[in-house]
Amino acid sequence: MNKAVLGFIAGMGFLWLGVSVSQASGDSVMGKKKFYTCEGCHSVAGYTNAYPTYHVPRIGGQHADYVISALKAYREDERKHGSMKGNVDNLSEQDMEDIAAYVSKFRGMNSTLPVTGDVQAGRAKAAMCASCHSEDGNSENSMFPRLAGQYESYLLRVLQEYKSGARANPMMMGFAATLSEEDMKDIAAFYASQKKGLTIPQD
Ligand code: HEC
Ligand code: HEC
Repeated sequence: MNKAVLGFIAGMGFLWLGVSVSQASGDSVMGKKKFYTCEGCHSVAGYTNAYPTYHVPRIGGQHADYVISALKAYREDERKHGSMKGNVDNLSEQDMEDIAAYVSKFRGMNSTLPVTGDVQAGRAKAAMCASCHSEDGNSENSMFPRLAGQYESYLLRVLQEYKSGARANPMMMGFAATLSEEDMKDIAAFYASQKKGLTIPQD
């Protein structure tokens, strides 16, 4: 490889690093206040969505950048969920950044719930996900959501939605297309059973 090519690759790596460590510039003290309307669902351990029934996702300790992109996806109808849409419609850009700064602080240890899928089988099947989500689902790159400690029922629901196309993300749709229903259950059980990871925002 000649020097120019090496330099180019090093430059790209540097750029990528620059992107991956970029932090949203929210104010977590303001974010705590603004999160008030969200607490009824997101700060109650084990709270579920009704029809269909699955757990309201744990967002404590999630990457701030991903939280912001998820909120925008509901606003733009890229992700369809009635009450989430209602909750984000009135948020400004600054509100989203503040809320993301607040919830992302809560990374910690969970008391995990019992899972129904096969954790050992899930660990093996999740190997192909590690390059982005990291081996145990605690990705350090803010482009890729953390999955460790997320509720099993939410993870399964999301994977089914990527597979059906109801949640349209080209990258994840490609991966979900390769998974059977059993694969999804096992992978969901594996990430959900990680103790270090997502939790609920609760001061
Ligand atoms: C009525 C209950 C409810 C309220 C209130 C609510 N949410 Fe949600 N939230 C949900 C549910 C259910 C989902 C999962 C929806 C889906 O399937 O995409 C969700 C998803 C999310 C996600 C995406 C999580 C992920 O892992 O992708 C974020 C971020 C979020 N909510 C933040 C908020 C914020 C911020 C507020 C307040 C402004 C809020 N929510 C208010 C129920 C609620
Ligand atoms: C090339 C990188 C990459 C790989 C490999 C990858 N993902 Fe993802 N994943 C992403 C990105 C980017 C998102 C966010 C997409 C979005 O906003 O919908 C995501 C989102 C998710 C979510 C939604 C999280 C949430 O909170 O809603 C789940 C679940 C998930 N991935 C599981 C998996 C599984 C299981 C595999 C392996 C079969 C996998 N991913 C492989 C990049 C990847």
